[in-house]
Formats: sequence, structure tokens, C-alpha cells
Amino acid sequence: MTDNQQSLTVRDNRTGEEYELPITDGAISAKDLGKIGTGEESPGVAVYDPGFTNTASCRSAVTFIDGEKGILEYRGYPIEQLAESSTFLEVAYLLIYGELPTEEQHEKWVHEVTFHTFVHENLRSLMQGFRYDAHPMGMLMSSVGALSTFYPEARNITDDDIRHEQIVRMIAKMPTLGAWSFRHAQGKPYVYPDNNLSYTENFLSMLFKMSEQEYNADPRLVKALEVLFILHADHEQNCSTNAVRSVGSSQVDPYSAVSAGIAALFGPLHGGANEAVLKMLRRIGSKDKIPAFIASVKNGDERLMGFGHRVYKNFDPRATIIKKACDDVFEVTGVNPLLEIALELEKIALEDDYFISRKLYPNVDFYSGLIYEALKFPPEMFTVLFAIPRTAGWLAQWRELVDDKDQKIARPKQIYTGDRHLTFVPSSERWA
Ligand code: CMC
Repeated sequence: MTDNQQSLTVRDNRTGEEYELPITDGAISAKDLGKIGTGEESPGVAVYDPGFTNTASCRSAVTFIDGEKGILEYRGYPIEQLAESSTFLEVAYLLIYGELPTEEQHEKWVHEVTFHTFVHENLRSLMQGFRYDAHPMGMLMSSVGALSTFYPEARNITDDDIRHEQIVRMIAKMPTLGAWSFRHAQGKPYVYPDNNLSYTENFLSMLFKMSEQEYNADPRLVKALEVLFILHADHEQNCSTNAVRSVGSSQVDPYSAVSAGIAALFGPLHGGANEAVLKMLRRIGSKDKIPAFIASVKNGDERLMGFGHRVYKNFDPRATIIKKACDDVFEVTGVNPLLEIALELEKIALEDDYFISRKLYPNVDFYSGLIYEALKFPPEMFTVLFAIPRTAGWLAQWRELVDDKDQKIARPKQIYTGDRHLTFVPSSERWA
């Protein structure tokens, strides 16, 4: 007998039978619902939930979000504190291994990641084979997938040492592959990693270095990039993380699973919103056009890109941090002229009842595109800049998945709506 405080009583009106379904951690088990049936002809009740809007697919201890209160925590640590005082590599370790590293663990981790930044020369040739105008995200996705062919041992996903090695490799090589995808489109030589530099300094060097001996990035830009990387490192069960988990549930190697995550992130509904914000700001063009634009949003003709979120319903804590980072970046690069329009748009929208009543606030993408543009990244690079830090989250979630005894190969049900029992007529008769 279940404690009725923690259970749901369901009456099946088809049979009059009652079922008591335990509620654990605020959820009932879909399997328990499956027991509610009317016999052989009618299988148990299933849950119809396209887009998994109210379905928990796993238990996870990686990232906590409270959308109502605007809280985001990695392994229990508030995002604001991590962005303020940590580094991306420390956060990556925290996400993947569940604890902040000791001094010794940190030193080893940074050393390992730093010394795995180079990629096999064959991979470089593979990347050079892409057309001159290849989208950098397509290049990144393919080259991460290709890494699986260089490390066949990665298929042994149950060996912790082997797993660790692939995690290090992927975190280390992602900036190299991302930067080379960027240089490729510009026809510039690929820049090899510089192991004397920090993770983000090295990334900037591979992106922008020309003939100088050593690339010296402005420390304010390095710090801003660290913050952006920390903010994007994980966001619990979003579309790309779900893709990594779903593909990973077949027990494929982690390179293949992460390349599926990159594919999911490529889509405009996921990683592409900041580019849409820039296009929108450019289209608005000047502050005096904002009222007309807001009116068209309220009419339902447009969306205010960079506003609203499926989970955050009061504010997106990442947006608050990014807004601050904007000031630091613009101090070095000069103010992005679109900032003025963005600030005014935000001010007007936040005072307007349409947005207030629907709980629409700026999200992480409202300002990130402005920063990336000021750093001279073309819009196609924006999702690459998202994928590099998100790799830490994908790998943390993948590792958790592999160790989770509850997990099975992802294989949802369907509600079949097609024909049945048709009789096939060969084409010779159909077309006669
Ligand atoms: N501009 C104008 N109206 C909006 C907007 C918007 N950006 N977002 C939602 N609404 C309205 C929507 O029309 C609806 O109104 P009504 O109730 O009158 O029909 C109401 O608000 C609820 O919207 P919804 O589409 O049901 O909300 P959702 O949770 O399905 O969508 C969203 C969330 C992020 C897809 C949506 O807010 C949106 O399209 N925003 C713009 C795109 C964007 O900035 N995306 C980046 C998200 S953050 C990145 C990340 O975390 O990965």
C-alpha cells in the first residue's frame, strides 16, 4: 500500500477500476501508467508528450534550474558565483566530476587538457577538404564525429580511465576544431595550439593570430570569454543534451554522441537565437523605429527575439551576467552601435503589459550576439562559440547516463495514425 500523500489515485472509467500510482520526486512512473489497460486488445495507457514538455527522462545531479525564481546552479553552486570567481576549466571539472577539484586535481586536469589540444594531422587534412564557404558548425560537427575514428578504444564506455581520456581529448580539442573552422572560411592558415596559454587565451590565439610570435589577448576579453563559456557550459535537459543522451543511450562512443549534440545545437530554435537578435536589431535600425516594431510584436506579426524562455519565467540569470560582460568587452572593442537599440528595446518591453503579463524577459541570447559581433565573429560562428563550452555539460550528462542503472536505450512510443491491413498491388498492375 502506498502512502496516499505521495500517490495518485486514478480511476479508469472504461473499466471502473482504480489504480494507485506512487509519486516519487514529484513524478509518476510512465511504466505504472502502462499497467492501466483493458486487456490484450488495448495496451496500457501511454503518455503523449511531443517535445517532452512535462516528461522527466532521467535523474540528474548536474544542473539545477528554478525557472520561476531565475536560479541556475551547477552541482549546487550558483552560476553568479562561478561566473564571478571561477574559470571555465574548473567549472568543466565540477560539472563532469561532481566536485570542485583539489589543487592537485586541478593542476593535473589543466595540464591534461592543455596537452591534448593538438589534433592528428589527418584530421587537419580532412577539415581542409571542406568547401571554402562551409558553415563552421557543419565542419565542427563532422570533425568531432571523425574523432571517433582516431580513437576506437573510445567505444569502451565502461572503463573509467578510457572515458576520462576521451573527456580530456574532447574538451581540449574543441577550441582547436572550432578555431580552424573559423579560419577555414577566411582562407587563413590554421594556427596550432599554444600550450603556454590558458584555455581561452589559446582559443583566441588560434582564432586571431597572424605572424606575431605569440598572440597576446587583452585580459578583459579573456575574462569575458571565460564568463561566456561558464554561462553556456550546461543547461540540464535541453534539446542538444537530450540528443547526446538519446544517442549515447545506444552505448555509442562519446565523440559520436557529442556530434549529435552539435547537430541539435545547430538548429535556429536552439543555438541560433542570438544571430536572430542581431538581424532584428539591424532591421529596426534606429531608436525611433522601436515603437512601431513593438506594436508589430504585440499584433503577433513578429517575435521579440532574445525575449522569453521555456523555463525562466521571471528572469534569465545568465542575461544579467552577460549584460555586465558587455561593458567589459565594449571597453576594449568600442561600443556595438546596436547596443543602444537593444537597451531601449529592453526598457520599453519591460514596461509594457504585453511582455509583463506573459512573463517575457531578456534571455541569454539578447546580449551575447552583441558581444560576439564586437569581438569580430561572423554570425555563423555564434553557435560554435556555444558548442565549445557546452561540450563540458554534454560530457557530464553523458557520463552520468552511462553510470545510471535506470537508463535504457532511448526508444519512445508512438501513436500510430496511418493505414492498416492494406493489400499491396504491384506497380505493373497499378500503373496498367
Ligand atoms: N516575443 C513576443 N511574444 C512572445 C515571445 C517573444 N519573444 N515569446 C513568447 N511570446 C508570447 C507568445 O506569443 C505567447 O503569447 P500568447 O499566450 O498570447 O499566445 C506567450 O508569449 C507564450 O509563448 P510560448 O511560445 O508558448 O512560449 P514557449 O515557452 O513555448 O517559448 C521561446 C519559449 C524561447 C521559444 C519563446 O519565448 C521565443 O520564441 N523567444 C524568442 C526566441 C529566443 O530568444 N530564443 C532563445 C531562448 S534562450 C536560449 C536557450 O536557453 O537555449
